[in-house]
Amino acid sequence: MAIYSLFLLLFCTNLSVAKRYEPTWESLESRPLPSWFDEAKLGIFIHWGVFSVPSYSAVWFWNYWENGHKDINNFMKRNYRPGYTYADFAADFKTEFYDPKRWAAILQASGAKYVVLVSKHHEGFTNWPSNYSWNWNSYDTGPHRDLVGELATAVRETTDLRFGLYHSLFEWFNPLFLKDKENNFTTQDFVKMKSMPELYELVNRYKPEVIWSDGSGQAPDSYWMSKEFIAWLYNDSPVKDTVVVNDRWGRGDICRHGGYLTCNDRYNPKALQNRKFENPMTIDKNHWGFRREANIEDFYTSRELISTFAQTVSCGGNMLMNVGPTSYGTFQPIYEERLLQFGKWMKINEEAIYSSKPWTTQKDNATNAWYTMKKTTSGTNVYAILLDWPDKNYLYLNAPVASSSTSITMLGYSGYFSYSIVQPSGINITLPVISFSKIPSTDAWVFKLTDLKN
Ligand SMILES: *[C@@H]1O[C@H](CO)[C@@H](O)[C@H](O)[C@H]1NC(C)=O
Ligand SMILES: *[C@@H]1O[C@H](CO)[C@@H](O)[C@H](O)[C@H]1NC(C)=O
Ligand SMILES: *[C@@H]1O[C@H](CO)[C@@H](O)[C@H](O)[C@H]1NC(C)=O
Ligand SMILES: *[C@@H]1O[C@H](CO)[C@@H](O)[C@H](O)[C@H]1NC(C)=O
Repeated sequence: MAIYSLFLLLFCTNLSVAKRYEPTWESLESRPLPSWFDEAKLGIFIHWGVFSVPSYSAVWFWNYWENGHKDINNFMKRNYRPGYTYADFAADFKTEFYDPKRWAAILQASGAKYVVLVSKHHEGFTNWPSNYSWNWNSYDTGPHRDLVGELATAVRETTDLRFGLYHSLFEWFNPLFLKDKENNFTTQDFVKMKSMPELYELVNRYKPEVIWSDGSGQAPDSYWMSKEFIAWLYNDSPVKDTVVVNDRWGRGDICRHGGYLTCNDRYNPKALQNRKFENPMTIDKNHWGFRREANIEDFYTSRELISTFAQTVSCGGNMLMNVGPTSYGTFQPIYEERLLQFGKWMKINEEAIYSSKPWTTQKDNATNAWYTMKKTTSGTNVYAILLDWPDKNYLYLNAPVASSSTSITMLGYSGYFSYSIVQPSGINITLPVISFSKIPSTDAWVFKLTDLKN
Protein backbone atom coordinates (compact mmCIF):
# COMPACT_ATOMS: atom_id res chain seq x y z
CA MET A 1 0.00 0.00 0.00
CA ALA A 2 2.70 2.42 0.99
CA ILE A 3 4.75 1.59 -2.09
CA TYR A 4 1.72 1.91 -4.31
CA SER A 5 0.99 5.39 -2.91
CA LEU A 6 4.54 6.44 -3.44
CA PHE A 7 4.39 5.36 -7.07
CA LEU A 8 1.11 7.14 -7.53
CA LEU A 9 2.54 10.26 -5.99
CA LEU A 10 5.61 10.24 -8.22
CA PHE A 11 3.53 9.48 -11.27
CA CYS A 12 1.10 12.33 -10.61
CA THR A 13 3.82 14.77 -9.71
CA ASN A 14 5.55 14.06 -12.98
CA LEU A 15 2.52 14.33 -15.16
CA SER A 16 0.39 17.06 -13.81
CA VAL A 17 2.56 19.53 -11.91
CA ALA A 18 4.66 21.77 -14.11
CA LYS A 19 8.01 22.70 -12.70
CA ARG A 20 7.83 25.82 -10.57
CA TYR A 21 10.73 28.21 -10.63
CA GLU A 22 12.17 29.76 -7.51
CA PRO A 23 13.35 33.37 -7.42
CA THR A 24 17.02 32.34 -7.62
CA TRP A 25 19.20 32.55 -10.71
CA GLU A 26 19.99 28.87 -10.39
CA SER A 27 16.34 27.94 -10.65
CA LEU A 28 15.35 30.59 -13.20
CA GLU A 29 18.27 29.70 -15.45
CA SER A 30 17.29 26.02 -15.44
CA ARG A 31 14.34 26.96 -17.63
CA PRO A 32 15.05 26.14 -21.29
CA LEU A 33 14.82 29.19 -23.53
CA PRO A 34 11.61 28.89 -25.57
CA SER A 35 12.76 27.66 -28.96
CA TRP A 36 11.05 30.33 -31.03
CA PHE A 37 13.62 32.86 -29.89
CA ASP A 38 16.68 31.06 -31.27
CA GLU A 39 14.81 30.25 -34.45
CA ALA A 40 13.80 33.88 -35.04
CA LYS A 41 17.30 35.38 -35.51
CA LEU A 42 16.11 38.91 -36.30
CA GLY A 43 14.14 41.35 -34.19
CA ILE A 44 13.41 45.05 -34.66
CA PHE A 45 13.95 47.42 -31.75
CA ILE A 46 11.92 50.65 -31.65
CA HIS A 47 13.05 53.63 -29.56
CA TRP A 48 10.18 56.05 -29.27
CA GLY A 49 9.26 58.52 -26.55
CA VAL A 50 9.33 62.19 -25.55
CA PHE A 51 12.99 62.27 -26.72
CA SER A 52 11.58 61.84 -30.24
CA VAL A 53 10.24 65.41 -30.00
CA PRO A 54 13.52 67.37 -29.74
CA SER A 55 14.87 64.53 -31.95
CA TYR A 56 18.31 65.96 -31.53
CA SER A 57 21.53 64.46 -30.17
CA ALA A 58 20.48 61.38 -28.24
CA VAL A 59 17.68 59.60 -26.40
CA TRP A 60 19.67 60.72 -23.31
CA PHE A 61 18.74 64.33 -24.24
CA TRP A 62 17.11 65.16 -20.92
CA ASN A 63 19.94 63.68 -18.87
CA TYR A 64 22.61 65.45 -20.94
CA TRP A 65 20.71 68.73 -20.66
CA GLU A 66 20.43 68.46 -16.86
CA ASN A 67 24.13 67.71 -16.77
CA GLY A 68 25.03 70.83 -18.71
CA HIS A 69 25.95 69.20 -22.02
CA LYS A 70 27.13 72.12 -24.18
CA ASP A 71 25.49 71.19 -27.49
CA ILE A 72 22.15 70.65 -25.83
CA ASN A 73 22.29 73.89 -23.86
CA ASN A 74 23.03 75.76 -27.09
CA PHE A 75 20.29 73.92 -28.93
CA MET A 76 17.76 74.90 -26.26
CA LYS A 77 18.94 78.51 -26.13
CA ARG A 78 18.73 78.90 -29.90
CA ASN A 79 15.39 77.19 -30.44
CA TYR A 80 13.19 77.41 -27.33
CA ARG A 81 11.90 80.14 -25.07
CA PRO A 82 13.64 80.64 -21.74
CA GLY A 83 12.19 78.45 -19.01
CA TYR A 84 11.19 75.68 -21.41
CA THR A 85 11.32 72.35 -19.60
CA TYR A 86 11.71 68.78 -20.82
CA ALA A 87 8.15 68.07 -19.70
CA ASP A 88 6.96 70.73 -22.15
CA PHE A 89 8.10 68.54 -25.03
CA ALA A 90 5.42 65.96 -24.21
CA ALA A 91 2.63 68.13 -25.60
CA ASP A 92 4.35 67.97 -29.00
CA PHE A 93 4.59 64.19 -28.95
CA LYS A 94 1.56 64.05 -31.25
CA THR A 95 2.05 60.83 -33.27
CA GLU A 96 -0.54 62.16 -35.71
CA PHE A 97 0.65 59.92 -38.55
CA TYR A 98 1.04 56.82 -36.39
CA ASP A 99 -0.51 53.97 -38.32
CA PRO A 100 0.26 50.76 -36.40
CA LYS A 101 -0.90 48.58 -39.30
CA ARG A 102 1.59 50.27 -41.58
CA TRP A 103 4.34 49.82 -38.98
CA ALA A 104 3.38 46.16 -38.72
CA ALA A 105 3.58 45.77 -42.50
CA ILE A 106 7.08 47.30 -42.59
CA LEU A 107 8.20 45.09 -39.70
CA GLN A 108 6.88 42.03 -41.49
CA ALA A 109 8.60 43.05 -44.71
CA SER A 110 11.95 43.38 -42.90
CA GLY A 111 12.13 39.63 -42.32
CA ALA A 112 12.16 40.10 -38.56
CA LYS A 113 10.32 37.59 -36.39
CA TYR A 114 9.89 39.77 -33.32
CA VAL A 115 9.66 43.40 -32.37
CA VAL A 116 10.72 45.08 -29.13
CA LEU A 117 9.03 48.43 -28.57
CA VAL A 118 10.22 50.86 -25.91
CA SER A 119 7.34 51.04 -23.45
CA LYS A 120 9.21 53.43 -21.14
CA HIS A 121 12.75 54.75 -21.40
CA HIS A 122 14.86 56.29 -18.64
CA GLU A 123 12.84 59.54 -18.93
CA GLY A 124 9.95 57.68 -17.28
CA PHE A 125 7.28 58.55 -19.86
CA THR A 126 5.04 55.53 -20.41
CA ASN A 127 3.86 54.87 -23.96
CA TRP A 128 0.72 53.29 -22.55
CA PRO A 129 -1.99 54.53 -20.16
CA SER A 130 -0.36 53.17 -17.03
CA ASN A 131 -2.26 53.11 -13.79
CA TYR A 132 0.99 54.11 -12.16
CA SER A 133 1.56 57.34 -14.06
CA TRP A 134 -0.88 60.21 -13.67
CA ASN A 135 0.24 62.58 -16.37
CA TRP A 136 3.63 61.43 -17.68
CA ASN A 137 2.15 58.98 -20.16
CA SER A 138 0.94 58.85 -23.75
CA TYR A 139 -2.73 58.78 -22.85
CA ASP A 140 -3.08 61.80 -20.58
CA THR A 141 -0.72 63.96 -22.60
CA GLY A 142 0.83 64.16 -26.06
CA PRO A 143 -0.60 61.47 -28.33
CA HIS A 144 -3.66 60.71 -26.16
CA ARG A 145 -3.29 57.17 -27.46
CA ASP A 146 -2.20 53.79 -26.20
CA LEU A 147 0.90 53.49 -28.38
CA VAL A 148 1.90 50.12 -26.94
CA GLY A 149 -1.55 48.55 -27.16
CA GLU A 150 -2.15 49.72 -30.70
CA LEU A 151 1.09 48.18 -31.97
CA ALA A 152 0.51 44.97 -30.01
CA THR A 153 -2.87 44.58 -31.69
CA ALA A 154 -1.65 45.41 -35.20
CA VAL A 155 1.36 43.09 -34.96
CA ARG A 156 -0.76 40.20 -33.70
CA GLU A 157 -3.56 40.72 -36.19
CA THR A 158 -1.49 41.25 -39.32
CA THR A 159 1.95 39.63 -38.96
CA ASP A 160 3.70 36.50 -37.71
CA LEU A 161 6.04 38.51 -35.47
CA ARG A 162 6.16 38.08 -31.71
CA PHE A 163 5.49 41.23 -29.72
CA GLY A 164 8.02 42.31 -27.10
CA LEU A 165 8.58 45.29 -24.83
CA TYR A 166 11.58 47.22 -23.58
CA HIS A 167 11.20 48.65 -20.09
CA SER A 168 13.62 50.76 -18.10
CA LEU A 169 13.66 49.83 -14.44
CA PHE A 170 15.14 53.13 -13.29
CA GLU A 171 14.14 56.69 -14.17
CA TRP A 172 16.79 59.40 -14.14
CA PHE A 173 14.81 62.00 -12.21
CA ASN A 174 11.98 60.20 -10.48
CA PRO A 175 12.00 61.57 -6.90
CA LEU A 176 11.11 58.15 -5.49
CA PHE A 177 14.06 56.57 -7.23
CA LEU A 178 16.41 59.36 -6.14
CA LYS A 179 15.22 58.92 -2.57
CA ASP A 180 15.84 55.17 -2.61
CA LYS A 181 19.26 55.83 -4.08
CA GLU A 182 20.03 58.34 -1.36
CA ASN A 183 19.10 55.62 1.12
CA ASN A 184 21.67 53.35 -0.53
CA PHE A 185 18.78 51.27 -1.84
CA THR A 186 17.76 50.16 1.64
CA THR A 187 14.27 51.49 0.84
CA GLN A 188 12.26 50.27 -2.17
CA ASP A 189 9.49 52.82 -2.59
CA PHE A 190 10.24 53.40 -6.25
CA VAL A 191 10.34 49.69 -7.13
CA LYS A 192 7.18 48.89 -5.19
CA MET A 193 5.18 51.88 -6.38
CA LYS A 194 6.45 52.26 -9.94
CA SER A 195 8.75 49.78 -11.69
CA MET A 196 7.24 46.52 -10.55
CA PRO A 197 3.58 47.51 -10.78
CA GLU A 198 4.33 48.76 -14.31
CA LEU A 199 5.95 45.50 -15.35
CA TYR A 200 3.08 43.37 -14.03
CA GLU A 201 0.63 45.73 -15.69
CA LEU A 202 2.49 45.52 -19.03
CA VAL A 203 2.55 41.72 -18.96
CA ASN A 204 -1.07 41.28 -17.88
CA ARG A 205 -2.38 43.84 -20.31
CA TYR A 206 -0.21 43.35 -23.44
CA LYS A 207 1.22 39.85 -23.01
CA PRO A 208 4.66 40.63 -24.43
CA GLU A 209 6.78 37.59 -25.29
CA VAL A 210 10.06 39.44 -24.83
CA ILE A 211 10.78 41.53 -21.75
CA TRP A 212 13.82 43.60 -22.59
CA SER A 213 14.80 45.07 -19.24
CA ASP A 214 17.25 47.96 -18.95
CA GLY A 215 18.48 50.62 -16.57
CA SER A 216 19.15 48.31 -13.64
CA GLY A 217 22.88 48.86 -13.18
CA GLN A 218 22.86 51.17 -10.15
CA ALA A 219 21.27 48.72 -7.75
CA PRO A 220 21.36 44.97 -7.09
CA ASP A 221 18.56 42.71 -8.34
CA SER A 222 17.43 42.27 -4.72
CA TYR A 223 16.49 45.97 -4.75
CA TRP A 224 14.63 45.61 -8.06
CA MET A 225 12.88 42.38 -6.99
CA SER A 226 13.58 41.17 -10.51
CA LYS A 227 14.07 37.51 -9.67
CA GLU A 228 10.63 37.46 -8.02
CA PHE A 229 9.17 39.10 -11.12
CA ILE A 230 10.81 36.60 -13.48
CA ALA A 231 9.65 33.67 -11.31
CA TRP A 232 6.09 34.98 -11.63
CA LEU A 233 6.63 35.48 -15.36
CA TYR A 234 7.77 31.86 -15.81
CA ASN A 235 5.30 30.26 -13.35
CA ASP A 236 2.04 32.13 -13.47
CA SER A 237 1.97 34.94 -16.03
CA PRO A 238 -0.18 34.81 -19.17
CA VAL A 239 3.00 34.36 -21.25
CA LYS A 240 4.70 31.79 -19.01
CA ASP A 241 5.35 29.24 -21.77
CA THR A 242 6.73 31.51 -24.47
CA VAL A 243 8.22 34.61 -22.83
CA VAL A 244 11.95 35.31 -22.98
CA VAL A 245 13.89 37.87 -20.93
CA ASN A 246 17.32 39.44 -21.30
CA ASP A 247 20.09 39.93 -18.74
CA ARG A 248 19.68 43.49 -17.41
CA TRP A 249 18.03 42.85 -14.06
CA GLY A 250 20.43 44.34 -11.52
CA ARG A 251 24.00 45.42 -10.90
CA GLY A 252 26.41 42.71 -12.01
CA ASP A 253 23.77 40.60 -13.78
CA ILE A 254 24.46 41.80 -17.31
CA CYS A 255 26.25 39.17 -19.39
CA ARG A 256 25.83 36.70 -16.51
CA HIS A 257 22.24 36.20 -15.43
CA GLY A 258 18.79 36.16 -16.94
CA GLY A 259 17.29 34.48 -19.99
CA TYR A 260 19.54 35.31 -22.91
CA LEU A 261 22.59 37.59 -22.79
CA THR A 262 22.95 41.05 -24.35
CA CYS A 263 26.19 41.97 -22.58
CA ASN A 264 26.88 45.40 -24.05
CA ASP A 265 25.04 47.38 -26.71
CA ARG A 266 26.18 46.25 -30.18
CA TYR A 267 27.44 42.96 -28.75
CA ASN A 268 29.01 41.11 -31.67
CA PRO A 269 31.54 38.66 -30.17
CA LYS A 270 32.53 37.13 -33.55
CA ALA A 271 33.17 33.83 -31.80
CA LEU A 272 30.88 30.97 -30.84
CA GLN A 273 29.11 31.58 -27.53
CA ASN A 274 27.91 28.86 -25.19
CA ARG A 275 24.81 30.76 -24.22
CA LYS A 276 22.15 32.38 -26.38
CA PHE A 277 22.90 36.04 -26.98
CA GLU A 278 21.41 38.98 -28.81
CA ASN A 279 23.22 41.84 -30.51
CA PRO A 280 21.20 45.00 -29.87
CA MET A 281 22.37 47.48 -32.49
CA THR A 282 21.25 50.49 -34.44
CA ILE A 283 20.76 51.47 -38.08
CA ASP A 284 21.88 55.01 -37.18
CA LYS A 285 25.50 54.11 -36.41
CA ASN A 286 25.59 55.77 -32.99
CA HIS A 287 22.06 56.54 -31.93
CA TRP A 288 18.83 54.91 -30.82
CA GLY A 289 16.34 57.71 -31.43
CA PHE A 290 15.33 59.69 -34.50
CA ARG A 291 17.71 62.62 -35.02
CA ARG A 292 16.76 65.46 -37.31
CA GLU A 293 20.41 66.45 -37.69
CA ALA A 294 21.52 63.04 -38.99
CA ASN A 295 23.17 62.82 -42.41
CA ILE A 296 23.21 59.92 -44.83
CA GLU A 297 26.70 58.83 -43.72
CA ASP A 298 25.38 58.40 -40.18
CA PHE A 299 23.45 55.33 -41.28
CA TYR A 300 24.80 51.88 -41.97
CA THR A 301 24.33 50.63 -45.49
CA SER A 302 22.30 47.48 -46.06
CA ARG A 303 25.57 45.69 -46.81
CA GLU A 304 27.03 46.68 -43.44
CA LEU A 305 23.86 45.62 -41.63
CA ILE A 306 23.75 42.24 -43.36
CA SER A 307 27.46 41.68 -42.59
CA THR A 308 26.89 42.26 -38.89
CA PHE A 309 23.85 40.03 -39.04
CA ALA A 310 25.76 37.17 -40.71
CA GLN A 311 28.52 37.38 -38.10
CA THR A 312 25.98 37.45 -35.27
CA VAL A 313 23.88 34.53 -36.49
CA SER A 314 26.95 32.47 -37.35
CA CYS A 315 28.07 32.71 -33.72
CA GLY A 316 24.67 31.69 -32.36
CA GLY A 317 23.18 35.13 -31.74
CA ASN A 318 20.08 37.06 -32.70
CA MET A 319 20.30 40.62 -33.94
CA LEU A 320 17.94 43.28 -32.61
CA MET A 321 18.11 46.08 -35.15
CA ASN A 322 16.95 49.47 -33.95
CA VAL A 323 14.88 52.14 -35.66
CA GLY A 324 13.96 55.53 -34.22
CA PRO A 325 10.53 56.74 -35.40
CA THR A 326 9.55 60.41 -35.54
CA SER A 327 7.38 62.11 -32.94
CA TYR A 328 4.69 62.37 -35.61
CA GLY A 329 4.58 58.60 -35.86
CA THR A 330 6.46 57.58 -39.01
CA PHE A 331 9.62 55.72 -39.89
CA GLN A 332 11.76 58.06 -41.96
CA PRO A 333 12.30 56.66 -45.48
CA ILE A 334 15.98 55.91 -44.71
CA TYR A 335 14.91 53.53 -41.94
CA GLU A 336 12.10 52.15 -44.04
CA GLU A 337 14.45 51.53 -46.93
CA ARG A 338 16.97 49.69 -44.76
CA LEU A 339 14.23 47.47 -43.36
CA LEU A 340 12.91 46.69 -46.83
CA GLN A 341 16.42 46.00 -48.17
CA PHE A 342 17.00 43.67 -45.27
CA GLY A 343 13.73 41.87 -45.93
CA LYS A 344 14.52 41.45 -49.61
CA TRP A 345 17.80 39.77 -48.70
CA MET A 346 16.11 37.62 -46.06
CA LYS A 347 13.50 36.40 -48.51
CA ILE A 348 16.21 35.03 -50.80
CA ASN A 349 18.44 33.67 -48.07
CA GLU A 350 16.08 32.72 -45.27
CA GLU A 351 16.93 29.02 -45.61
CA ALA A 352 20.39 29.81 -44.21
CA ILE A 353 19.00 31.96 -41.39
CA TYR A 354 15.77 30.99 -39.64
CA SER A 355 16.18 27.98 -37.35
CA SER A 356 19.81 27.60 -38.40
CA LYS A 357 22.52 26.52 -35.93
CA PRO A 358 26.16 27.48 -35.70
CA TRP A 359 28.49 25.18 -37.60
CA THR A 360 31.85 23.86 -36.36
CA THR A 361 33.58 26.82 -38.02
CA GLN A 362 32.17 30.33 -37.72
CA LYS A 363 34.37 32.44 -40.00
CA ASP A 364 36.27 30.85 -42.82
CA ASN A 365 39.94 31.66 -42.34
CA ALA A 366 40.68 32.07 -46.05
CA THR A 367 37.64 34.08 -47.12
CA ASN A 368 35.26 36.60 -45.57
CA ALA A 369 32.49 34.05 -45.26
CA TRP A 370 30.50 33.09 -42.14
CA TYR A 371 28.83 29.74 -41.70
CA THR A 372 25.49 28.46 -40.48
CA MET A 373 24.06 24.97 -40.78
CA LYS A 374 20.80 23.13 -40.77
CA LYS A 375 19.97 19.47 -40.32
CA THR A 376 17.26 18.20 -42.66
CA THR A 377 15.77 14.79 -43.27
CA SER A 378 18.07 14.37 -46.27
CA GLY A 379 21.26 15.37 -44.41
CA THR A 380 23.07 18.39 -43.08
CA ASN A 381 23.42 21.55 -45.14
CA VAL A 382 26.15 24.07 -44.47
CA TYR A 383 25.71 27.65 -45.62
CA ALA A 384 28.62 29.96 -46.33
CA ILE A 385 27.48 33.58 -46.20
CA LEU A 386 29.99 35.38 -48.38
CA LEU A 387 30.46 39.06 -47.51
CA ASP A 388 32.97 40.07 -50.23
CA TRP A 389 32.62 38.95 -53.80
CA PRO A 390 36.02 37.67 -55.02
CA ASP A 391 38.07 39.58 -57.58
CA LYS A 392 38.89 36.30 -59.37
CA ASN A 393 36.54 33.78 -60.92
CA TYR A 394 36.96 31.30 -58.10
CA LEU A 395 36.14 31.15 -54.44
CA TYR A 396 38.36 29.23 -52.06
CA LEU A 397 36.78 28.13 -48.79
CA ASN A 398 39.18 26.64 -46.31
CA ALA A 399 36.84 24.97 -43.80
CA PRO A 400 34.52 22.61 -45.75
CA VAL A 401 35.65 19.04 -46.41
CA ALA A 402 33.76 17.80 -49.48
CA SER A 403 32.51 14.25 -49.93
CA SER A 404 31.94 12.58 -53.28
CA SER A 405 28.31 13.67 -53.21
CA THR A 406 28.77 17.28 -52.08
CA SER A 407 26.83 19.75 -54.22
CA ILE A 408 27.18 23.51 -54.23
CA THR A 409 24.47 26.01 -55.12
CA MET A 410 23.81 29.65 -54.38
CA LEU A 411 20.50 30.63 -52.78
CA GLY A 412 18.42 32.62 -55.23
CA TYR A 413 20.40 31.39 -58.25
CA SER A 414 19.67 28.29 -60.29
CA GLY A 415 22.39 25.87 -61.23
CA TYR A 416 25.19 23.93 -59.60
CA PHE A 417 28.71 25.24 -59.14
CA SER A 418 31.67 23.10 -60.04
CA TYR A 419 34.49 22.87 -57.55
CA SER A 420 37.71 21.06 -56.83
CA ILE A 421 38.91 19.63 -53.56
CA VAL A 422 42.01 21.36 -52.27
CA GLN A 423 44.71 19.62 -50.21
CA PRO A 424 45.27 19.76 -47.31
CA SER A 425 41.89 21.41 -46.79
CA GLY A 426 39.06 23.25 -48.43
CA ILE A 427 37.20 23.56 -51.69
CA ASN A 428 37.80 25.78 -54.68
CA ILE A 429 34.52 26.83 -56.27
CA THR A 430 34.50 28.00 -59.89
CA LEU A 431 32.38 31.09 -60.29
CA PRO A 432 30.70 31.33 -63.67
CA VAL A 433 29.95 34.63 -65.36
CA ILE A 434 26.69 35.67 -63.72
CA SER A 435 24.76 38.43 -65.42
CA PHE A 436 23.77 41.42 -63.36
CA SER A 437 20.10 40.52 -63.65
CA LYS A 438 20.74 37.02 -62.28
CA ILE A 439 22.87 37.84 -59.26
CA PRO A 440 20.58 37.40 -56.22
CA SER A 441 22.08 40.27 -54.20
CA THR A 442 24.72 42.96 -54.23
CA ASP A 443 25.21 42.74 -50.44
CA ALA A 444 26.01 39.13 -49.50
CA TRP A 445 25.71 35.72 -51.14
CA VAL A 446 24.90 32.39 -49.60
CA PHE A 447 26.55 29.20 -50.89
CA LYS A 448 24.78 26.04 -49.86
CA LEU A 449 27.01 23.00 -49.40
CA THR A 450 25.46 19.57 -48.99
CA ASP A 451 26.88 16.30 -47.70
CA LEU A 452 30.15 17.59 -46.35
CA LYS A 453 32.37 15.25 -44.41
CA ASN A 454 32.64 17.78 -41.57
C1 LIG B 1 -6.31 50.37 -13.77
O1 LIG B 1 -7.24 51.37 -13.58
C2 LIG B 1 -8.51 51.10 -14.14
C3 LIG B 1 -9.39 52.29 -13.93
O2 LIG B 1 -8.69 53.47 -13.99
C4 LIG B 1 -9.10 49.87 -13.50
O3 LIG B 1 -10.31 49.55 -14.13
C5 LIG B 1 -8.14 48.72 -13.64
O4 LIG B 1 -8.60 47.61 -12.95
C6 LIG B 1 -6.76 49.09 -13.14
N1 LIG B 1 -5.88 48.02 -13.45
C7 LIG B 1 -5.01 47.56 -12.57
C8 LIG B 1 -4.13 46.45 -13.09
O5 LIG B 1 -4.88 47.98 -11.47
C1 LIG C 1 25.51 50.54 0.70
O1 LIG C 1 25.04 49.21 0.74
C2 LIG C 1 25.97 48.23 0.39
C3 LIG C 1 25.27 46.88 0.46
O2 LIG C 1 24.14 46.87 -0.34
C4 LIG C 1 27.16 48.29 1.31
O3 LIG C 1 28.13 47.37 0.89
C5 LIG C 1 27.74 49.69 1.32
O4 LIG C 1 28.76 49.79 2.27
C6 LIG C 1 26.67 50.74 1.62
N1 LIG C 1 27.23 52.05 1.46
C7 LIG C 1 26.96 53.05 2.28
C8 LIG C 1 27.60 54.36 1.97
O5 LIG C 1 26.23 52.93 3.24
C1 LIG D 1 42.53 27.52 -41.22
O1 LIG D 1 41.73 26.48 -40.70
C2 LIG D 1 42.20 25.19 -40.97
C3 LIG D 1 41.22 24.21 -40.39
O2 LIG D 1 39.91 24.51 -40.79
C4 LIG D 1 43.60 25.01 -40.41
O3 LIG D 1 44.08 23.75 -40.81
C5 LIG D 1 44.51 26.09 -40.94
O4 LIG D 1 45.76 25.99 -40.31
C6 LIG D 1 43.92 27.45 -40.66
N1 LIG D 1 44.77 28.47 -41.28
C7 LIG D 1 45.06 29.60 -40.67
C8 LIG D 1 45.91 30.55 -41.45
O5 LIG D 1 44.67 29.86 -39.55
C1 LIG E 1 41.48 27.73 -57.32
O1 LIG E 1 41.35 27.64 -58.71
C2 LIG E 1 41.94 28.68 -59.42
C3 LIG E 1 41.59 28.56 -60.91
O2 LIG E 1 41.67 27.24 -61.32
C4 LIG E 1 43.44 28.66 -59.19
O3 LIG E 1 44.07 29.70 -59.88
C5 LIG E 1 43.67 28.82 -57.69
O4 LIG E 1 45.05 28.72 -57.39
C6 LIG E 1 42.93 27.76 -56.91
N1 LIG E 1 43.08 28.01 -55.51
C7 LIG E 1 43.38 27.08 -54.63
C8 LIG E 1 43.52 27.49 -53.21
O5 LIG E 1 43.53 25.93 -54.95
